[in-house]
Amino acid sequence: METSVVLVTGASAGIGRASADLLASRGWRVVGASRRATGGTGWEGLRMDVDDDDSVRQGVESAIGRFGRLDAVVAAAGFGVAGPVEHTTMDDARAQFETNFFGVTRVVQASLSHLRESAGRIVIIGSIGGTLGLPFQAFYSASKFALEGYAEALGYEVGPFGVEVTVVEPGNIRTEFTAQRHFVESPESNPYAAATAKAMGTMERDEQHGAPPSTVAETVARVLEADHPPRRISVGKLDERVGVVAKRLLPYRLFERAARGSLGL
Ligand SMILES: NC(=O)c1ccc[n+]([C@@H]2O[C@H](COP(=O)([O-])OP(=O)(O)OC[C@H]3O[C@@H](n4cnc5c(N)ncnc54)[C@H](OP(=O)(O)O)[C@@H]3O)[C@@H](O)[C@H]2O)c1
Repeated sequence: METSVVLVTGASAGIGRASADLLASRGWRVVGASRRATGGTGWEGLRMDVDDDDSVRQGVESAIGRFGRLDAVVAAAGFGVAGPVEHTTMDDARAQFETNFFGVTRVVQASLSHLRESAGRIVIIGSIGGTLGLPFQAFYSASKFALEGYAEALGYEVGPFGVEVTVVEPGNIRTEFTAQRHFVESPESNPYAAATAKAMGTMERDEQHGAPPSTVAETVARVLEADHPPRRISVGKLDERVGVVAKRLLPYRLFERAARGSLGL
């Protein structure tokens, strides 16, 4: 039997890189895409900017050219925009959606005809922030919430062709994500300054003390190799995953009060 081929986006760092390395070590043939195009252990890098239609189309075609087939896509490319909603420009908001939402949809769309042929798998790296709204990361959260709806809808469409869609929802993970975060510009007299500093300080500390990206990679590999993958699966420290369940179970205002407390708001 031919070895399966996976295209991983965001493969130059963090979760994408750990997933590419792990999948290669498990015998997958890996194409790892990013703007830096760096490769890893047992796989070569491919230059791709998920914000750009042509770059994505050419990237997928060159993956097919390299290996002749495509069995899975892991869409991990992404970054975070932070700051008060009131100060987030439409350009900042659009840039967030361009990469985190449209970047994923571009890669999926360019890959689908190949994935239908192989009855393949799609793994979208969402976030716990795509199930719980994160203060001062509203557009990041919104881009990840959008992926949840997109994945549910897509599941109905491609399921009849044997294509499975899963959203993997990481909690805090120690990657370049924190250093790469884009803070929007706020005016000198900023009524949100103290709350932003408190909430973002807590969230960035949690990221830096978060689980290693290999934990997400293990979940990605499990999803890709499962007979019946779930539609969504969260991964991270227990207290973060408890938050997701607590939101479902508690009256929302009660949940919000507890979340405010934990962020110092
Ligand atoms: N770290 C966390 O705590 C956490 C938690 C939940 C979800 N996530 C999600 O996990 C995914 C991966 O993040 P990470 O934590 O691994 O961050 P990371 O270490 O900063 O890696 C981000 C990756 O995305 C790539 N990327 C960014 N913009 C791109 C673009 N326009 N085109 C192509 N590639 C692009 C980067 O490569 P280049 O710069 O070389 O292009 C890099 O490989 C993101 O979707 C993020 O939202 C992260």
